[in-house]
Amino acid sequence: MADGATGAAIQVRPQPSGFGAEVTGLDLSKPLDAGTLAQVKDAWARHAVLAFPDQPLTLDELEAFTLQIGPFGDDPYVAPMAGHPNVLEVRREPDEKTTPFGGNWHSDWSFQERPPAATILRSEIVPPVGGDTLYADGAAAYDALPDEMKARLAPLRAVHSATRAYGPKSGYARELEVRSMPIIVSPDADKTWAHPLVRTHPVSGRKALFISPVYTVGIEGMTPDEADPLLRDLYAHMTQERFVYRHVWKAGMLVMWDNRCTMHNALGGYDGHRRVMHRTTVAGEVPV
Ligand code: OGA
Ligand code: MN
Repeated sequence: MADGATGAAIQVRPQPSGFGAEVTGLDLSKPLDAGTLAQVKDAWARHAVLAFPDQPLTLDELEAFTLQIGPFGDDPYVAPMAGHPNVLEVRREPDEKTTPFGGNWHSDWSFQERPPAATILRSEIVPPVGGDTLYADGAAAYDALPDEMKARLAPLRAVHSATRAYGPKSGYARELEVRSMPIIVSPDADKTWAHPLVRTHPVSGRKALFISPVYTVGIEGMTPDEADPLLRDLYAHMTQERFVYRHVWKAGMLVMWDNRCTMHNALGGYDGHRRVMHRTTVAGEVPV
């Protein structure tokens, strides 16, 4: 498809499961023509986690690419980069003893009324070992559930909150180790917001589990004794190897994932090495 009206052909190489794909044959540092942008968005709706190798974008270019996908999301609890109010730096120094930022399964900012549709992460410095990111496929995990479980989950609303991560009693609030990322602990994080536990993707129409172990604190109308075992079972189900794509970074790689139908988990394993990534989010909609 090399005709000018639809832009140059891009290559989309899906992972064997269809969850996750590598996209090449385009230059994200320049505005994409309408046809190419449509191909990127189509691939994103199909594969949820798109990896674009060899895209060493400047921060300005990262912002400009993000805005082609949609308006910026609202990023609380981490101070943005100087001069770039919509870019967070995900950084860990060689001598740092802290847990990796994002180092437990979660969907980004799922406690917001409108959680981000996309997160875009571009690697700057990649350690020679470790630092992979795991992604779990909430749509395939939902499809694989027995019909009785689907029926049980259909009316449920999960309660999300930033309290465990960023509240005054959170892990970050009590952390003693020096962390290079400017985390903002706030009583604001104790607020809660409920979302459907199974949500429907606005573009693909697929249903997906919308759970986020770091931020999901319960289920409406259930006691913790009822909700906790169910949530634990769903987390274990969704993070089975058959639903997980393991992303191995190289420097100058850009990954764009869909927070509406996936979770992710930043792995460590690179003590003694620096890891630096730059991150934006794209605003999303009220989950339905
Ligand atoms: C994030 C995140 C994962 C990583 O930026 O939201 O979870 O591998 N990062 O750095
Ligand atoms: Mn994250």
